[in-house]
Order: sequence, then C-alpha cells, then structure tokens
Amino acid sequence: MKSSPEITAIVLCAGKGERAGQNGNKLFSLVGGQAVAAMTAAKFARFDRLIAVVAPAETEEMRALLPPCAEIVAGGKTRTESVRNALAAIGDTDIAVIHDGARPFVTDKILDEAIASAIEFGSGVAATKAVESLKIATDDGVKSLDRSKVYCVQTPQAFCFADLKAAYERVAGDLTDDSEVMERAGYPVRLTAGSPDNRKLTYPADFNGLNDAYRIGLGYDVHPTAKDRKLVLCGETFDADFGLAGHSDADAPVHAIMDALLSAAGMPDIGVLFPDTDPAYLGADSMELLRTVKSRCAAFEIINLSVCIMAQRPKIAPRVSKMRDNLAAALGVPRDNVNISATTTEGLGIVGEGRGIASAAVVLMRTK
Ligand code: CTP
Ligand code: MG
Repeated sequence: MKSSPEITAIVLCAGKGERAGQNGNKLFSLVGGQAVAAMTAAKFARFDRLIAVVAPAETEEMRALLPPCAEIVAGGKTRTESVRNALAAIGDTDIAVIHDGARPFVTDKILDEAIASAIEFGSGVAATKAVESLKIATDDGVKSLDRSKVYCVQTPQAFCFADLKAAYERVAGDLTDDSEVMERAGYPVRLTAGSPDNRKLTYPADFNGLNDAYRIGLGYDVHPTAKDRKLVLCGETFDADFGLAGHSDADAPVHAIMDALLSAAGMPDIGVLFPDTDPAYLGADSMELLRTVKSRCAAFEIINLSVCIMAQRPKIAPRVSKMRDNLAAALGVPRDNVNISATTTEGLGIVGEGRGIASAAVVLMRTK
C-alpha cells in the first residue's frame, strides 16, 4: 500500500426506508433540524473522493443535501446493487470505505480506525460487542452462544478496493453486509471498534426523541402585603392576619409560574395576557388563569416545574403538599413533576421586613 493511499467513501442513500414509516426515504427525515443524508454525508467530505449512491428519482432533492464534492451514482433496487454501481463508477482507488446513509451518528474515530485497519490489514469493519445473552434456536432446541465471541456488525466498512471489487465479482446474490461478501470470497475480515451510538435508523422508534426541543422558562413576581386581603398561594388560602394586594387574587407564585410557562413558550407575559387595567381580571382566581395559560401552551409537554416562595411569614411548609396537588391538577402533570420550596429572607429586604411576598418559578418543557 502507498504511503498515502487514496481513500474513496461510498455513502449509500438509495433505499426506500420502508420499515422506518417516515413517509418516503428516511434519509430526508430531520434529525435536530438537519436531513439524515446531509448529516451523514458531511462526515465523508474530508476523503479524497465521496461517492453518494442516490435513487435516480431523488437526485435533485438529494444533491441539495450533499457536500458539493459528492459524485452522484445511481442506486439499484437492492443495497448490493447500489454498492455494485458505486464500485463500477469508482474505476480505481486504494481504499473504499462503505457507509449506510442511515447511520448519521458515525464519528471520525470510528472511521479512522476502520480505515487504518484497511490500510494495514486489508479490511476494517466497525462492530460492537453483543450486549444481551445470545441463543441459537433451531428445531432441535435452544443453544447458548459464547457472548464474548459474538459481534454486531455496522458500517463503516473499509477495504482494499481491489479485494472488494474482486469479492463482489466473485460472489453473487443480495447480501446486506459487505464484510460477508468479502468473507464468502475468502478474504479475511478484521473487526474494529464501532459504537452503540452509531446505530442505523431503521424502524419508527429509532427516530423517537431525535427532534425533541427543550425550552426553559423563568418567571418572577412580588406582591405587597395588605391588611384586609386574603392570602392565597398556589390556590391555597392561608389563615393569616394579612394578605397580598393586587388586581387579581394576588397569588404571587402562580403569577411567577404563568410567566415561566409563557416565557418558555415564547409568548408575551401575563401583564400582556391579563392586563391589570382590565376589569375582567379584578379579583380573578389565578388558578383559573393558570389553566388558560396551560391551554395556550398546548404544543408543549411540561417536564418539570420548580417554584420558590419567599415569605417571612406564614409558615409555608405544612401546606406545600396540597399546593403541589393544586398545581399538578391545573397543569395536568404528575405531582412529582411539580415542586415547591419556601424560604424566609432572614429578615432582610422587602420580604424579610414583611412588606411583600415574592416568588420565582422555573419550568422545563419539551415540544410535543
Ligand atoms: N440502500 C441503498 N440502496 C438500496 C437499498 C438501501 O443505497 N437499494 C441504503 C439505504 O439508503 C441505507 C442503507 O443502504 O442508507 C442501509 O439500508 P436500510 O437500512 O435497509 O435502508 P432502506 O433500504 O432504505 O430501508 P428499508 O429496508 O426499511 O426499506
Ligand atoms: Mg433495506
């Protein structure tokens, strides 16, 4: 092998994605906002040549996703046919590294190891150790396999091009694993380190969570204390000799929670939504307003809500359990996803001097 062999990458993008249930070729599906094909192919732009195997009907659409250096080759009916078309188009090269377009999480480390092995030994095939106990089930019964000797084979698979080409000429039929073609043609196959992360997007569940967007929101509110007002915190009325002044029932923690939700959702705050100049909200039940805010955030699922109440008096802790229940019911989330802490401010400031009660809330949400 030359001191700096020419490396040609083959990225297979010409499948139909029938098992993935993604409404067409799964390589057009988005992962974190980027098409799978774009994500995978970008990792191969650094090689001497990049062959992208693409279904003829998808050439235009795919071309827009691939690095400009990619040479497009027409795909075949099966993966084997697609590989054969790529091998024919290459002409000659030193090392060919084949990769499934449907494995967008491949790393440079996995690639470099497979290629280094191919340069030194003629082949480098990414593989992972089996995790579960393994059995072979036949009509004669079930037999256990020695797990320490069993591997799951992935791509990238890198080979000496001349050997690979000869193997594909010698071995007929459709095989979805290039290393099996090499094996059947009598070439030794050497395994290198793959990774469970380098999984192939095959079934609908493989796409779960790949486009989840998390949003965090912070809300804060403070209301002055007042005689002759009820003290309502998170929908619970406290037996206290003071309450909080405000246009609504002045439930400060619920106001903080609503602002946290609206902020996370990218919407205007409660000052805009429920203006204190609007008589409709005079004496309003803030828990009712919270239900309205929740319905406005219907596109999001609440992961958790954390509320802090700052009050010198009264003692909040004995009521926290009921307050959590109130919030969980209004937001339609399990009680474990809502928590409330309370603190005095050690006599300091507006809260410490008993002139007001403040509250802060943080919420984490996920797009549905
Ligand atoms: N592939 C290809 N040409 C084919 C079939 C498959 O280039 N005729 C590619 C796929 O695009 C994929 C890789 O080979 O990147 C692995 O195949 P697989 O996961 O089976 O993808 P699909 O064939 O697209 O999916 P399915 O079998 O569910 O239809
Ligand atoms: Mg397939």
